[in-house]
Amino acid sequence: MTRRLVADEAGIAVAADILRAGGLVAFGTETVYGLGADARNAQAVAGIFAAKERPAFNPLISHFPDAATAFEHAQAGELAQELARRFWPGPLTMVLPRTPTCAISDLAGAGLPSVAVRVPSGAVARALLARAGIPVAAPSANPSGRVSPSTAAHVLAGLEGRIDAVLDSGPCAVGVESTIVDLTGARPVLLRPGGVTIEALREICPDIALPHATSDARPAAPGRLSSHYAPTLPVRLEATHVAADEALLAFGPELAGSPLVWNLSPTEKLDEAAARLFAGLRFLDMEGRRRGLRAIAVQPVPAHGLGAAIRDRLARAACPRPR
Ligand code: TXA
Ligand code: MG
Repeated sequence: MTRRLVADEAGIAVAADILRAGGLVAFGTETVYGLGADARNAQAVAGIFAAKERPAFNPLISHFPDAATAFEHAQAGELAQELARRFWPGPLTMVLPRTPTCAISDLAGAGLPSVAVRVPSGAVARALLARAGIPVAAPSANPSGRVSPSTAAHVLAGLEGRIDAVLDSGPCAVGVESTIVDLTGARPVLLRPGGVTIEALREICPDIALPHATSDARPAAPGRLSSHYAPTLPVRLEATHVAADEALLAFGPELAGSPLVWNLSPTEKLDEAAARLFAGLRFLDMEGRRRGLRAIAVQPVPAHGLGAAIRDRLARAACPRPR
């Protein structure tokens, strides 16, 4: 059975105890809900892979209450220190070499010589991490390949009965996952666009390399499988018209003709659109299927700011996938 914990002091204490004992707890961060386990404990981490049915070659991000604790496990050069000062706590993940004393299990790191570390913002996540006092490995709390969760109800819809508890801190403020930057090479590489915009990153790393949004070719990011965030209905991007048997994910003024519409942001605000993205995909998928619609049409979203992360998730949601 999965316990639903209110995110007050008592709930946070119970969640921390479950994590320390090797259990699985989903918790809200500013980006999406994560499925947490003790990153040092290979058996606990194996539980994450089992609950999500996630391929074990896909490494996990470890979460910490502050940069000093994160850098006990990940080697931070000057650039990493600067990025941490500017963006932590917040939606940035850094891939760094392991320190000699790194306690993160090989399973959490998928056997790589590097580790991914992040200090989330959000009072509940930070209180939980501080209270647990251990590195917490946490992928998004959804079955592998499916739409990420931005509420506790989303988590339970996918993982009820497969995890020990969910700590309900309400809807996530940012709504798309963290931006991932690989700092293990000569030049910083963007592995995933996310809650920290590329424009903001460039202020500190003007030379950051940007791979193609849906490339599978990067061995440094084995988790970046193309098909991801997938609703069960097919997704059609850059729609300039919509059919009567399609659901519509709108942005700005809505196209006419669809019987089922979720507008990401009628006033074209990208932060609002990011926060409403995964809830919208879930709603259109569920309700569209119930009504016998055949696809989800998506209106164009601009590529600047948070739009880059939104477009990346939509491109993956639209990718052909094995059934
Ligand atoms: O916002 C987020 O980052 C959320 C919340 C829960 O923190 N977490 C999240 O985790 O999105 P997940 O597992 O869905 O995505 C982690 C990504 C994967 O694409 C994985 O391949 C990449 O991080 N990653 C982890 N460790 C890595 C490493 N050592 N080298 C390269 N990529 C790595
Ligand atoms: Mg994920």
